[in-house]
Amino acid sequence: MANAAPIKFASPLIDDATIAAVGDVLRSGHITSGPWVARFEAALSAFCGGRPVRVLTSATSAVEVALQLLGIGEGDEVITCGQSFFTVLNMIVKQRATPVFVDCDLATRNIELGRVAARIGPRTRAIIPTHWPGSLVDMDALHDLARAHKLRVIEDAALVIGSRWKDRPVGAFGDLVAFSFHPNKNITSIEGGALVCNDADEARQVEVLRFHGIERQPDGTRDVAFPGGKFNLPDVNARIGLAQLERLPAFLAQRRRLVDRYFERFVTDPACVLPPRPVAGDGQSWNMFCILLPLARMQMTRKEFRDALAVRGIATGVSYEALHLSTLGRRFGYRRGDLPNAERIADATVTLPLHAAMTTGDVDRVCAACAEVLAAHPSESRSARVEQ
Ligand SMILES: Cc1ncc(COP(=O)(O)O)c(C=O)c1O
Repeated sequence: MANAAPIKFASPLIDDATIAAVGDVLRSGHITSGPWVARFEAALSAFCGGRPVRVLTSATSAVEVALQLLGIGEGDEVITCGQSFFTVLNMIVKQRATPVFVDCDLATRNIELGRVAARIGPRTRAIIPTHWPGSLVDMDALHDLARAHKLRVIEDAALVIGSRWKDRPVGAFGDLVAFSFHPNKNITSIEGGALVCNDADEARQVEVLRFHGIERQPDGTRDVAFPGGKFNLPDVNARIGLAQLERLPAFLAQRRRLVDRYFERFVTDPACVLPPRPVAGDGQSWNMFCILLPLARMQMTRKEFRDALAVRGIATGVSYEALHLSTLGRRFGYRRGDLPNAERIADATVTLPLHAAMTTGDVDRVCAACAEVLAAHPSESRSARVEQ
């Protein structure tokens, strides 16, 4: 065990055929956005039930462009969840709009939709929910709420490409949907992201916004009416993303096997809170496996727990910090105690390794290491199964 290979936090699977295909793109002489971007977009569009999709350099740029597309700016409010990655907070503030945080459900970690209506006011323009792996936001309730209050929705689907809602994949319906192809996501293009749009006009506006804001004029000259960004995905990345999309079902099946194994083997400390257990045929994809440590009753800190796993060759993460308590979030008047579930998750989460390059034997090792560390530093009581 001491000499076992380290278990990385993420490890994308790029096969030899993809590496050869990238070589072909490099030799073609056309390496920035070109025919492979068009093919990747067409494949993503087919995956999303024919809705137009435009690729960008990240999910972050997709969210930024989505906010610009909706004309969201100073004086506008955007409702989002306090438990998510910095992207949503940053991009709302970058547009000079105001983030309005709602707490998440402690088990699913998704925005508590029941609390959203109370935060909607005359300046509210949009909702940005982050879908959590294993448990999508309730899409019917989300879009009913948005329609009732005439709000736009930008789904942060960075973690969940391949998840399904009532037999339709995320992205195939709804409003604007952002995906990430960062190396620790379900598929990768090294860096990359995509925005699913409602119609050809929105897709055309995204093309303008992702490339300097340039509009081509009938006389062959160019103009900008808006300071656009530079978020176009190169063909090299698109070629990788296209090859990865073909392998998505296999990647998701392996991730699901590993999650099932976590649920079989992670029986070490009943006071640890695991994610909601998946049920057969639920259509959910799994990008991360996050546990909540019973910190108040443990004789060690989360840092010590993670360090002890690192010594055993196991990399972990802390997804995510509480956005409202970041220095940027606090600028909008938030303080500790405002969103108790997001805060508890932010304090006690450990994200265990989960990626398609892992084996069930790796999961067994992670579970055994967690058991060993927790046994060496027992919590005072092991009776409570889930303290929710
Ligand atoms: C929930 C969530 N949203 C958005 C992003 C941003 O993705 P990208 O790195 O492609 O910008 C991430 C990245 O980790 C994420 O976890």
